[in-house]
Amino acid sequence: MAGISFLDEHRTWVLTGETSTYALRLGEDDVPVHVYWGPALPATAVVELIGKTLPWWDGFNDPGEGVDELAADGGTRYWTPALQVRFADGTRALEWRYESHHIAAGHLRLSFADRHYPLRITLHYRLRGDVLERWTELSAGTDVEVVRADSATWALPIFEDYRLSHVTGRWAAETRLQRGFAHHGETVFASRRGITGHHANPWVMVDDGTATERHGEVYGVALAWSGSWRLTTTRASTGRLTVSGGFGQDGVVHRVGPGRPLTTPVSAGLYTAGGFGAASRAWHAYVRAHVLPHPGELRPVLYNSWEATGFDVTEAGQLALAERAAALGVELFVMDDGWFGARTGDHAGLGDWHVNRSRFPDGLKPLVDAVHGLGMQFGIWVEPEMVNPDSDLYRAHPDWVLHHPHRRRSELQRQLVLNFARPDVAAWAHEWLDRLAGTADFLKWDMNRPFSEAGWPGEADQDRLWVDHTRAVYALLDRLRADHPGLRIESCAGGGGRIDLGVLARTDQVWTSDNTDALDRLRIQHGYGQLYPARAMSAWVTDNPNFVTARSIPLGFRFHVAMAGVLGLGGDIVQWSEDDLALARELVARYKNIRAVVQHGALYRLRPPVDDGVTAVQYVLADRAVVFAYRQSAHFNAPERPLRLDGLDPAAKYLDPDSGRTHSGAVLLAHGLPLDLPAGDFASVVIRLDRIKI
Ligand code: GLA
Repeated sequence: MAGISFLDEHRTWVLTGETSTYALRLGEDDVPVHVYWGPALPATAVVELIGKTLPWWDGFNDPGEGVDELAADGGTRYWTPALQVRFADGTRALEWRYESHHIAAGHLRLSFADRHYPLRITLHYRLRGDVLERWTELSAGTDVEVVRADSATWALPIFEDYRLSHVTGRWAAETRLQRGFAHHGETVFASRRGITGHHANPWVMVDDGTATERHGEVYGVALAWSGSWRLTTTRASTGRLTVSGGFGQDGVVHRVGPGRPLTTPVSAGLYTAGGFGAASRAWHAYVRAHVLPHPGELRPVLYNSWEATGFDVTEAGQLALAERAAALGVELFVMDDGWFGARTGDHAGLGDWHVNRSRFPDGLKPLVDAVHGLGMQFGIWVEPEMVNPDSDLYRAHPDWVLHHPHRRRSELQRQLVLNFARPDVAAWAHEWLDRLAGTADFLKWDMNRPFSEAGWPGEADQDRLWVDHTRAVYALLDRLRADHPGLRIESCAGGGGRIDLGVLARTDQVWTSDNTDALDRLRIQHGYGQLYPARAMSAWVTDNPNFVTARSIPLGFRFHVAMAGVLGLGGDIVQWSEDDLALARELVARYKNIRAVVQHGALYRLRPPVDDGVTAVQYVLADRAVVFAYRQSAHFNAPERPLRLDGLDPAAKYLDPDSGRTHSGAVLLAHGLPLDLPAGDFASVVIRLDRIKI
């Protein structure tokens, strides 16, 4: 029964995924209104709900309020506007006129026009398993100012109470999970920085306050966009909560007109039963199946030189690191910042993308050949959207950066932002990146500051840079990938500042955080994994004391934390002791043995990060499971609870191939697995469990 059906006489569309149903209809005035979102229902049953979702009307509220599919400004609609237009004669109210629908391959398109003005609105609905992707398209025969164009408004059922889950953070402390009851009125999650942001991430999950990790209904909404964005939850006295969201910068207007349509990014919505754990697993499955460009791939073990060398990059130094990395089992060697122009520190050279000849006298080729000769792929760091004022590029093109004519150019990180909406800037970037992509197998694409003074003097429609910058970055990534099919890309913005469904559609992994401290990472990974899969979560093992936090943690623990994602090494491995090198070799090999389970398996968060006690996650793929357990501090004689596992077959038996012990699935699920964690602080284990074939 999965698919889309149209109930003609009710003017209702029913979209059914694997386990959920979404339904909408046309009101008498042609306004598209919400009918249902929740557990799967047959279309015939949805009919019973038609007309029953409207709140009682008291003369101070609009009867349609809170159930609009895209809450448009106008008439008696007082809800948080998702679509705000201004026609040339000053009229702001929008009146919908339904024109047609089109259903093909799980994709419903509903076409509308304004009743009077030449504005067309198409609402898109595309089923991807249980995830419903929605977006909006606007086109106009005359110029129209679009003040707000959300991708979608999502109406939730009327619950007793509403609780919101989302992440907050900052540089080196990204994706901290927050969970709390929704305020009445509007709660806004947004980035006004021109990038996704460390401080927030464009998704929110909603439950009625009773969901747990393993039980309960969870609704989620995520936006596939890497520029400025806004998600607003509106909780009204009518009892309803909606989530509306899209791209755009406050106060910035999109100009839609002949030959200038506007297509919003995708807003993805997902209903799941089975608690926050099931919600995350369903999001991960969606990202793996429908978002990532090469989901079936196993990501290689990477080495990155940043924490080892900082800006002190030399050919000999990189070669020494590469030799060590290869001996440890690394498959992809990445040279970070400092290889180009006068970039010997963060003060100069950004924008001058030619090899620094005093550091690499014969260019990159000797290093690239050596890395390939060692059996590894070669990757390189780039930051295409940025320029240091002290650079040849800026001296030649001071007008290429975002700026206003009579305003200072605010430097952050001693750099300015190039305006990628300018075709000449995008063409310049394509030219050198295309050349580099002919040499490198992998790009780490960084973006180390947000926008400021976002102007484009001389351009008639300066506001468009807010959207067009991001679109130009996407177009460039897409073009590089198309022209270099073997090229793989990591998204980075000072760590996790650009992680979202939009960038994941055109990259292969993300740099989760500049904070590589294993203890801090447990929390960052916990928040990251609420929506995004381990398959894309880059995690390095680095030195003691940690580069960012100065904390020292045993090497085994550092590995075990990074092995729960896409393992990388990022320390000064030339300085590591023989013992550490031996352990690292063993754990890299161990990771290769389990990585299919980690990268492609289902995640079960068994115990969330805690300061005192055990934190644990488990991955399951077909007949294999891997359990990671971590204990920060030990208390003498404190009892240790067995760890109850999840996602196993209770009727099966499982073998731990390392200890030779067997366990019955039923016992692991009902009673738990004895962890036998080693004594002392920072104890950790990785336990493999293979289903025994009968
Ligand atoms: C950012 C990245 C780091 C590193 C530095 C180099 O901070 O997140 O991993 O590449 O830039 O300047």
